[in-house]
Amino acid sequence: FKIKIKKDLMNKIHIVSNRLPISIKQDDDHFSFTPSVGGLATGMRSIYKDFGGQWIGWSGIPSDDLEPQQIAQIDEKLTDERCQAVHLSAEEINLYYEGFSNDVIWPLFHYFTQHIEYNPDYWEAYQAVNRKFADKVVAVANPGDTIWVHDYQLLLVPQMIREKLPDVTIGFFLHIPFPSFEVFRILPWRKELIEGMLGADLLGFHTYDYERHFFSSVRRLLGYEVSFNQIHLENRIVLGDAFPMGIDYAKFKGKASEVFRKSLPEKSELHKELEKYFLMAPDRKLILSIDRLDYTKGIPNRIRAFEYFLEKYPEYRNRVTLIMLVVPSRAEVEQYKLLKSEIDELVGRINGRFGRINYTPIWYFYRSLPFENLIELYSSCDVALVTPVRDGMNLVAKEYIASRINQTGVMVISEMAGVAKELGEAIIINPNNEPEIAEALHQALNMPLEEQRERMATLQQRISRYDVFKWASEFVESLKKVQTLQQNFLAK
Ligand code: G6P
Repeated sequence: FKIKIKKDLMNKIHIVSNRLPISIKQDDDHFSFTPSVGGLATGMRSIYKDFGGQWIGWSGIPSDDLEPQQIAQIDEKLTDERCQAVHLSAEEINLYYEGFSNDVIWPLFHYFTQHIEYNPDYWEAYQAVNRKFADKVVAVANPGDTIWVHDYQLLLVPQMIREKLPDVTIGFFLHIPFPSFEVFRILPWRKELIEGMLGADLLGFHTYDYERHFFSSVRRLLGYEVSFNQIHLENRIVLGDAFPMGIDYAKFKGKASEVFRKSLPEKSELHKELEKYFLMAPDRKLILSIDRLDYTKGIPNRIRAFEYFLEKYPEYRNRVTLIMLVVPSRAEVEQYKLLKSEIDELVGRINGRFGRINYTPIWYFYRSLPFENLIELYSSCDVALVTPVRDGMNLVAKEYIASRINQTGVMVISEMAGVAKELGEAIIINPNNEPEIAEALHQALNMPLEEQRERMATLQQRISRYDVFKWASEFVESLKKVQTLQQNFLAK
C-alpha cells in the first residue's frame, strides 16, 4: 500500500471546524450573516481564502426548523464566502454537540471526570456526525489538497477523511488540553479517539505537555513507537508538535489606541461610566475578569478569593472593584446551568456583605459585549485576573496584554492555563489556592508603575511576535515538512 504524494500539495487548504467563521442568525424568515470574531476565525480567514480552499462547518441552526428552500438560501450565501455548511438536526446537536463533545470530551480533557456522562447514544451520534463532516470534506476536496481539521468536536474526522482520500495531507489542531494518560484511559472509547486523530499527518497542540500526554496515550494504548515527535505507524509517519496559538495582536493594539485617543463626547456609555468611577476617587482600582460561563474557568474560586482579599485587606473595601464579564455558553448543558446559579449566589453574597450605597464590590455582567466595549474594559482595568482550573491556552490573557497602550497593568494568571508557559513576567498562581490569589491581588495592586511597565513591555514583545498569523503559518509550514518526511519514509 503506497500513498502517492504530489510535488506541490499546498495549492488548496480547506479548514474543517465545528463552527463556521460566519454566524448565522434567524429572525422569522430572515437570516443575517455576520463574521465570527473568535481567534480561530481571525487566524484562518486569510489562509483558506489565499489558498483557494473551503471552510466546512456546522451552520449553527437546527436543520429541522428549516424549510428546504431556507437551507438552499443559507448554502448559497455561504458558498459565496467559500463556506460549506454541515446541517445538523436538533437531535444531532443534542447528542453530538451538547452530549459527546461537551458532556464527555470537554470534561474529560479538562480533568472534570465527575461531570462525564457515559452515554452510548452520545458516542453513536458523535461517530455519525463526524462522518457527516468527513463526507462533506470528501465532496469538496481533490487529491493533493491539504485539509486542516480543528478541535475536540471532530477527533474522528482525520481518519474518516484518510480512508476515502488517501492522497491528501491532513493536519489536526487541538484547541483544548490533552489530558494525562491516567485520565484519558478512563474513557470507554479512548482507542477509537486516538485512532481517529492518527488519521492526520500532523497533530498540533498548544503546549509541549499536551503533546507529551498524547504521545504517552498512543504508546500505552496502541503500542506505536514514538521518537523525536514522530509516531511510526505501519505505513506512514505522524508528526506531533506544539504551536501555542496567538491573537490578532495588531487588531487589539489598533483598537485600543483608537479608544485611547477618543475625546470624552466620542466615548461609549460604558467608557464614560468607567471614567466616572475613577473620578469619584483617584485611588480607586479595577480588577477585570472575562470568560465564557464554563466550570473550567475557575469563576467561583476567583470570587471566593476576592472575598478573602477584602476580608484580609479591609483597607481595599470601597476602593477595589472586580468587573466580571461572563459570556453565556452551552446553556443547554446541565453543568453550565448549575454553575450559573452558583455564580449568581456567590456574587449576591459578596455584594451583600461588602456593598455600600456608592460601592459595589463586584460588577457582574452576564452577556456578550461588542469588541469596542471589550477593549474599553481591557484598557481601563489595573489588573487582569485569569484563574482557570484548566484551560488549553486562554486568549483573554493575551488580549489584555495587547490592549495595554501605556504598558501599565498587571496580569495574574493561573498556572493551569496553557498561556502561563508564555507569561513568565505575569504573577502566576494556583487557582485552587484562594489565599495565594488574594496575595497576588495585593502584590498586583501595589506594584510600582516602573515594574509594571518593565514586565508588560516584555510580555507585549513576546505576544506580538507570535501572533495568530504566525501560529497559522508555522502550522502550514510544518505540514509542508511532514510531506517531505512521508516522501522519504515511502522512498525507504
Ligand atoms: C472553546 C473550544 C472551541 C469552541 C469555543 C466556544 O474555545 O475550543 O472549539 O468553539 O470554546 O464554544 P462553543 O461550544 O460555543 O462553540
